Amino acid sequence: MQEQEGVYFRLESRPQSAHLRSKHCILFLRVLCLTDKLKIRKFIAGGVCRTNVQLTGKVAVVTGSNTGIGKETARELARKGARIYMACRDTQKGESAASEIRADTKNSQVLVRKLDLSDTKSIRAFAEGFLAEEKQLHILINNAGVFMCPYSKTADGFETHLGVNHLASWPTCFLLMSWPRGSKALASPPTQYTQASSTLK
Ligand SMILES: NC(=O)c1ccc[n+]([C@@H]2O[C@H](COP(=O)([O-])OP(=O)(O)OC[C@H]3O[C@@H](n4cnc5c(N)ncnc54)[C@H](OP(=O)(O)O)[C@@H]3O)[C@@H](O)[C@H]2O)c1
Repeated sequence: MQEQEGVYFRLESRPQSAHLRSKHCILFLRVLCLTDKLKIRKFIAGGVCRTNVQLTGKVAVVTGSNTGIGKETARELARKGARIYMACRDTQKGESAASEIRADTKNSQVLVRKLDLSDTKSIRAFAEGFLAEEKQLHILINNAGVFMCPYSKTADGFETHLGVNHLASWPTCFLLMSWPRGSKALASPPTQYTQASSTLK
């Protein structure tokens, strides 16, 4: 009888403790998921600019800044007070990004200029326009790039990834940073230069 009672007790208690255990398990998994979600979200969101440095009076050029990393870089530089040249191949897209940044940062000195890195003539025209407008360049961020676009060639005959992501950086840097000799004396300070890049194998 005792044994029977014992059996009875065990049969009753087992599902209860299993139920509790599974409840705890689910709760634990939920907490884990929540913290993991936050961590994953933070990880995917990437770094956050925490510097208090102000860039008032500084001039910056960000290529391909109508979207993605370039746009966020332009926004952050604008927030710090710099004058930004958003160099975009599609000036309409550039303007809509610029007006969003101007409204967001209350910095009116966010300007859009045409630059198509798949055409050296466009790079030259952009540089000439910039040199006519500005005496100094403090920050150059070569951000624009293409990734896995269908096979095509630049105006200069290079495969587009090679031409836009890599080769175009040279004339852009050269024309903007090593101020052409013989032009009006441009008192350019050392420029901070950043290159974004992806490689395809
Ligand atoms: N996102 C990543 O995880 C990652 C990782 C490694 C490296 N990168 C590099 O970081 C940079 C920015 O990446 P993202 O993800 O922000 O790219 P994205 O959102 O695709 O933006 C690329 C920008 O480059 C512009 N662009 C493309 N071809 C151009 C050309 N011929 N002339 C001028 N501008 C041109 C695009 O203009 P349109 O809008 O007109 O196309 C766009 O504004 C790229 O160089 C990329 O290779 C990104």
